[in-house]
Amino acid sequence: MFLNDNLKIFAGSSNPALASDVCKYLGIPLGGAKIDRFPDGEKVIRVEDDVRGRDCFVVQSTCEPVDEHLVELLIFLDCLRRASASRITAVIPYFGYARQDRKDEGRVPITAKLVANMITTAGADRVLAIDLHAHQLQGFFDIPVDHLAGELVLSKYFRDLKINNLTVVSPDVGNMKTASRYAAHLGGDLAIVHKRRLSGNKVEAQEIIGEVSGRNILMCDDIIATAGTICSAAALVKKRGAEKVYIGATHGVFAPQALERLAKAPIDGVVATDTIPLNNMSKKISNIKILSVAAMLGEAIKRIHRNESVSNLFNNI
Ligand code: R5P
Repeated sequence: MFLNDNLKIFAGSSNPALASDVCKYLGIPLGGAKIDRFPDGEKVIRVEDDVRGRDCFVVQSTCEPVDEHLVELLIFLDCLRRASASRITAVIPYFGYARQDRKDEGRVPITAKLVANMITTAGADRVLAIDLHAHQLQGFFDIPVDHLAGELVLSKYFRDLKINNLTVVSPDVGNMKTASRYAAHLGGDLAIVHKRRLSGNKVEAQEIIGEVSGRNILMCDDIIATAGTICSAAALVKKRGAEKVYIGATHGVFAPQALERLAKAPIDGVVATDTIPLNNMSKKISNIKILSVAAMLGEAIKRIHRNESVSNLFNNI
């Protein structure tokens, strides 16, 4: 693949394996950088490659520890800006703080907007992200955002499984559009679960719109955090007579409760992507398959670098 040496890709410490797989896809070496700490705990980053006038990309998921990875991303962007990179793209495979995107009660922050402002102020000229929880988050940035969908990777996998009698289930109303795209691509029916969130980690699936009895289910979501959403929806569809239940989610946060819940849930397989590296606990979850978004990110980076269309990537799902 021809790419000139004007393109530089750097990795923050959240997901170095993904960054290096992106570089492998592009056939270029990972940019050199040292991430260290001063004795007082402050982070310090030193970019070791010459980036003056270069098109630079920093790959950093703002996953756990969220604040640390976020600050590291900000410092990286500042570092590249002060080193005279010509254009800097924050590549954020998983964007933490995205779910606080509105004031749905008094005296709460809108962290998605706050973090978008911080990333722009730190020096990003563009953002490349995957499944930002809500499409409108793109508008929280006043710089161009290329928004990729994990669906591109997950759809291919589920198509190859050739699931018959398929019904794609959205585990909540917010994910309905994505589920209907999956149903269209995979040739299944659509059903939607109405859920009620009782607290940050407690969810109750209340009702289903659509037919699930005797059907094989693919439930798709953007995030599995505590797994409350998918496990309660899985229990409900099973209660209503569903056969097999498969889960496809872009971001596997796998918070501590998720392990126990997934182990007990009536689920036949969970598929997530490597936007977030598996932690030690989630590695113990059997029945979980991780697909890589490296090729999708690499292709998008190549197209951004060459000023080619990124949306064309989605024409062949
Ligand atoms: C909610 O709007 C999201 O799309 C996910 O359904 C939710 O964030 C998953 O969280 P949990 O696994 O904790 O239920």
